Amino acid sequence: MPVAVVVGMQWGDEGKGKIIDLLSEEADVIARYAGGHNAGHTIVFDGNQHILHLIPSGIFHPGKLCIIGNGVVIDPAALIHEMDLLKKANIDLDGRLIISDRANIILPYHGTFDKGRENSNNFEKIGTTGRGIGPSYADKIARSGIRTCDYRNERYLKKKLESNYQEKNSIFRDLYGKELPPCESIFEDLMDYQETILKYIGDTHVLLRNEIEQNKKVLCEGAQGTMLDVDHGTYPFVTSSNSTSGGASTGLGIPPTQIDRVVGVIKAYTTRVGEGPFPTELHDEDGERLRDEGREFGSTTGRPRRCGWFDAVVARYAIRLNGIDAMAITKLDVLDRFNTLRVCTGYKYKGKVYEEMPADLDILENGEPVYTQFEGWNQSTVKAEKFDQLPDNAKQYIDGLQNILGIGFLMISTGPERNQTIRQGALF
Ligand code: GDP
Ligand code: IMO
Ligand code: MG
Repeated sequence: MPVAVVVGMQWGDEGKGKIIDLLSEEADVIARYAGGHNAGHTIVFDGNQHILHLIPSGIFHPGKLCIIGNGVVIDPAALIHEMDLLKKANIDLDGRLIISDRANIILPYHGTFDKGRENSNNFEKIGTTGRGIGPSYADKIARSGIRTCDYRNERYLKKKLESNYQEKNSIFRDLYGKELPPCESIFEDLMDYQETILKYIGDTHVLLRNEIEQNKKVLCEGAQGTMLDVDHGTYPFVTSSNSTSGGASTGLGIPPTQIDRVVGVIKAYTTRVGEGPFPTELHDEDGERLRDEGREFGSTTGRPRRCGWFDAVVARYAIRLNGIDAMAITKLDVLDRFNTLRVCTGYKYKGKVYEEMPADLDILENGEPVYTQFEGWNQSTVKAEKFDQLPDNAKQYIDGLQNILGIGFLMISTGPERNQTIRQGALF
C-alpha cells in the first residue's frame, strides 16, 4: 500500500511545493487533501517559477495523475484561472486533473464575509488570506454548502443557492446595512464555470481506491501546516481545515490503514503570515535578515512573513501529531551568513518549562523561549550535492536538529531549484 502524506510542520510555507514536486518523480498520483486557494505552493525549475494554489504540485510531471480531493474548498474562478495559466505553459490537464465531485464550492459572498469579519471590531483579527476559506468551510459543516456535483443538476443548484442567499443577504443587511449582489448574477457567474467543472469532476475516492488496489504510488499533498490546523493549531489563529496528516484520510477518502508513510516538511527557521502567537519571532536585525535572505513574502497575498528561530517544540509536536517518519528540511542556505543560530527547546512560563505544545495561547504569547545555540558557518551551502559537502557547522546544525527531534532528514534543500537538494533516501 504505497501511500505517503506530505505535511507542513510549522505555520505553512515550509517549501511543500518544492518538495512535493521532487517527490512526484516517485509517485503515480498526487492528491491534494485540504485547504483552498489560500495556499501558495512554489515550484522552480529551469529558472522559471510557478505558484500553484489549488492544483497539485505534481502537475509539472507529464503523465502523473493529479487529484483535488473532497476536503478542498474550490473557488471555480480561481481554479479555472490556474488551469488557464498551466495550459498557456503547455501543461496538459485533460485526463490528468480530476476534481472530487464532493468538494465544496467557495461562493463570492464567502470572500465578502471573510473580509468583513476581518475588518470588524467584533472579532479578533486573524489575518486571513481573505479568500472566503473560513465561511465556505462553515457552510460545509452547517450542511448548507454547494458542492461540485451540484453542477450536474442546475435546478437543484439554483434552489440551494437561493435558500443560502436569503440567509446570507439578511445577515449582510443587518451587519453592514447593504445588500449582496443579486442572487441571479451570482448564479449566472457560477454557471459560467459549469462546462469546465463538469469536464473535470469525478468520484476521486473510487479512483484512488482503484489506483491503490493496482499498487500505484499515491502522494497526498498537504496545504498550510500543522500549527494552522483547526483542531491542533494555535486556535483561533488557524485556517478552517485539518491540515495535519489525518486530513488526508478524510479529505481524500483514503482509509487510515492504507497510509504507510508521512513526510514532514520544515524550514531551517520559522515563519508565519497573519496574526497569532509565535514564540521564537524576531523583531531585530536577525529577523530582517531571515526575511531578506529567505525572500519571505507570501506566495498568495504578498504579505511580509514574520520570521524567527527554529522551534523544536513545534517540530516535536508536529512529528507526534502527524506520525511523521521522515523529514525534509528547506532553506538551509538562508542561514548561510549567520554567526550564531538558535533553536528553541521549551517555553518558560511562570517558572515552569513547557516542552509540549500548550493549548493555552497565553503560554505561547508570554512564555520565554529556552534556546540552545549553534555556531553559524558563514559559507554557501547552495552547491552541496551530498551531506558530506556541507560546511562542518551546517552538518552540526542538521545533526543537532536530528538529535533533538529523534528522526532523520530524507531531504535537505539548499535553494528553490530542483537540483538544489541533497537526497538521503527514497520516498517508498
Ligand atoms: P509552501 O507553501 O510550503 O509550498 O511554500 P511556499 O512556496 O509558499 O514558500 C516557500 C518559498 O521558499 C518559495 O519561494 C520557494 O521557492 C522557496 N524555497 C523552497 N525551498 C528553498 C530552499 O531550500 N532555499 C531557498 N532559498 N528557497 C527555497
Ligand atoms: P501554504 O499551503 C501560510 C494562514 C493565513 C492566516 C490563517 C487563516 O502555502 O503553506 P485563511 O485564509 O486560511 O482563513 O487564513 O492561515 N494561511 C497560511 N499561511 N501558508 C499557507 O498555505 C496558508 N494558508 C492559510 O495567513 O494566518
Ligand atoms: Mg505557501
